[in-house]
Amino acid sequence: MCGIVGILGREPVADALVDALKRLEYRGYDSAGIATLEGGALERRRAEGKLVNLEARLAKEPMSGHAGIGHTRWATHGAPTETNAHPHMTDKVSVVHNGIIENFRDLRRELEGQGATFTTETDTEVIVHLITHNLDNGMAPAEAAAAALERLEGAYALAIIFKGEEDLMIGAREGSPLAIGFGEGAMFLGSDAIALAPLTDTITYLEDGDWAEITRNSLKIRDRAGAEVERAVQKSIASALLVDKGNHRHFMAKEIHEQPEVISHTLAHYIDFATGRIRLPDLPFDFKDLKRFSISACGTAYYAGLVAKYWFERFARLPVEIDIASEFRYRDVPLEADGLALFISQSGETADTLAALRYCREQSQHIISIVNVRESTIARESDAILPILAGPEIGVASTKAFTCQLAALAVLAIAAGRARGHISEQDEQELVSALIELPRHISAVLRDESDYVDLAHDLAKARDILYLGRGVNYPIALEGALKLKEISYIHAEGYAAGELKHGPIALIDEDVPVIVIAPKDGLYDKTLSNVQEVAARGGRIIMISDMDATDFGWDVQKLITIPSSHLFTQPLIAAVPVQLIAYHTAVVMGTDVDQPRNLAKSVTVE
Ligand code: F6R
Repeated sequence: MCGIVGILGREPVADALVDALKRLEYRGYDSAGIATLEGGALERRRAEGKLVNLEARLAKEPMSGHAGIGHTRWATHGAPTETNAHPHMTDKVSVVHNGIIENFRDLRRELEGQGATFTTETDTEVIVHLITHNLDNGMAPAEAAAAALERLEGAYALAIIFKGEEDLMIGAREGSPLAIGFGEGAMFLGSDAIALAPLTDTITYLEDGDWAEITRNSLKIRDRAGAEVERAVQKSIASALLVDKGNHRHFMAKEIHEQPEVISHTLAHYIDFATGRIRLPDLPFDFKDLKRFSISACGTAYYAGLVAKYWFERFARLPVEIDIASEFRYRDVPLEADGLALFISQSGETADTLAALRYCREQSQHIISIVNVRESTIARESDAILPILAGPEIGVASTKAFTCQLAALAVLAIAAGRARGHISEQDEQELVSALIELPRHISAVLRDESDYVDLAHDLAKARDILYLGRGVNYPIALEGALKLKEISYIHAEGYAAGELKHGPIALIDEDVPVIVIAPKDGLYDKTLSNVQEVAARGGRIIMISDMDATDFGWDVQKLITIPSSHLFTQPLIAAVPVQLIAYHTAVVMGTDVDQPRNLAKSVTVE
C-alpha cells in the first residue's frame, strides 16, 4: 500500500524523505515522488518504478528545501505512471495520500465545473483542487485543508504542504494510519513508526477523524468535531530493531530463518516454562460461556485462523465460524450479543479486517485480536490483544508472522479447551511440551535447503502446481499455493485432498506437479489413497512428510522429509517447507521476492 512521509527539518530534507520512503518499500509500490518548498515555491520530482529511479532523478535535479513530503504509490486509480505518481499539486498546495476517496467522481465533476483542470486519473487530485479552491476563496492554509477534509468520503492518510509556508505541514487520518514524530526543532510524519525510525523514537498516532497542524516546534491536533485533543506520545521500539537482511539475500529468507527464534519468543510470552502451563492476558469473556465464536482475517492470516478452527473444535469442542474479512463485513452476519469475535492481522491495519471488527463491535461482540504491530488500529480497537512477537516483517509474503500467529492461536485453543473442561491439566502439559519442541523441529527443517534448490529448478518450469492436504494440513496446502503464486507468479491452487476427485483431478497430467502435505497423522492413509489417484494418472508427486519414501507404494518425484512431531504441531512444521518451496522457486524465476508485483504489505484499502 502507499506510504507517506513528511518532514519539517533544519536542513535539506530530500535525502531523508527518500530514506524514509525506503523503509516503507516493504508495503509495496509502483512509483514514488517527493515535493519540497524551494524558496517558498512548491517543486516536485517523481518517477515510475522503484526508488532508485527517483534517486537518479534527484541526482540530476537536486532539491534543497527544508520542508517536504514524499510518497510511494501503490496504484488504485489510474496506471502506475509518473503523471499519476504523488505528490499531486497546484502552485499553491502539494498533497500525498494513502487510501481511497470514494466520492472523488462527484467532487471532480464539481471542481471541473468551477474551472479546475485535472491532469491525473487519481482520486487524490480532488483534494489538491479542493484545497486550492478554498485558498483562492481567501481561507488560511490550515482552514482550507480542514474545509477540504470535510468534503471527503473514504479512507485517507494525508500530508500537505503549502506554497510560502516553510513552517507548516498538515497531517490527517481517516482509516489509514498516520504517525507524527517529534525531533529537536524538527517534526516528522509517516505511515508508520518504521518509516520514522532513524529520525525519532518519539511518536504519536492520530486517531480516525483527526487532523494535525504541525510546525517545527508545535503540534495541534483536532478531532472530527474540530475540538483540540491530546493524543498519547509514545516511545517507539521500531528504531531499536535492526531492519536489515542480515546474511540473507532477501528479507523473506531472513524471516523464514528467524522462525525458530520468534516462535520461541511468542511461546515464551504465553507459556510458563517452569510449570508447562499457559498464561494468557486478562480476557473480557470466559470460554465456558461461549456457544461458538467467529474468526475473520485476510490472506495468510485467514489460513492461520482456518488451522485454529480445527484446534478449537477439537480441543475445546467450540464451533468456530471463520470467514474472509472482505466477505464477513458485508454478509450481515447475525451475531448473539456478548459473543466473541477474533481477528488475526500481522499489520493490524488491514482495511477489511478492521471493518469486520467494527461490524462486530456494533453487534456487541467481545473483540480480541492477534496482531504483530501492537500500536496498530486493530490492536487499539480490540478489547484485548494477543500479540505475536515476530518483529517487523518486511517481505511482502508473510512467513514468520504466519507461524507466530499459529503459535498464539495454539495456546489460545489449549486455554479454551482447559476452560471448557475438555482437556485435562496433563493434556495441557503434553500439548505445551509439543509447542516447546517446535523451534527445534523448525531449525531442523531449515538446516539444509539443497533439496529445495533442486526442486525449485523443476517447479519453475511448471505452469500450474497443485497443493493437497487434509485436516489441519489443508490450510497449509492453501497457504503453500498462495505463497508460491504471490512471489513466483506461477499459478497454484490448494485443495483438500478428499476434494480432488470432485473436479480438480481433471487438471492432473505429467506437467502438473502435485505437492502433498502428508505427515503421519490420523488422515495419513486417507491422504495417501487420494494421492494414489494422482499417481495412477501420471501426476508428478512431491511429498512433504515425516514418512519414508518406501512407505508410499509409488514413485515420488521428491520427498521433503520433516521431523516427526506431536500431531498438534505438525501444521506449524509443514508450513516451513511450503515457504521454502515458494522462496527458492521465486529465486529461480528471478522475481522481486520481497516486493512482488501488484502486492502490498499493509492493505489499508478495501
Ligand atoms: C500473503 C500475505 C497476505 C496477508 C493479508 C493480511 O503472504 O501476506 O495475504 O496475510 O494481506 O494481512 P494482515 O495480516 O496484515 O492483516
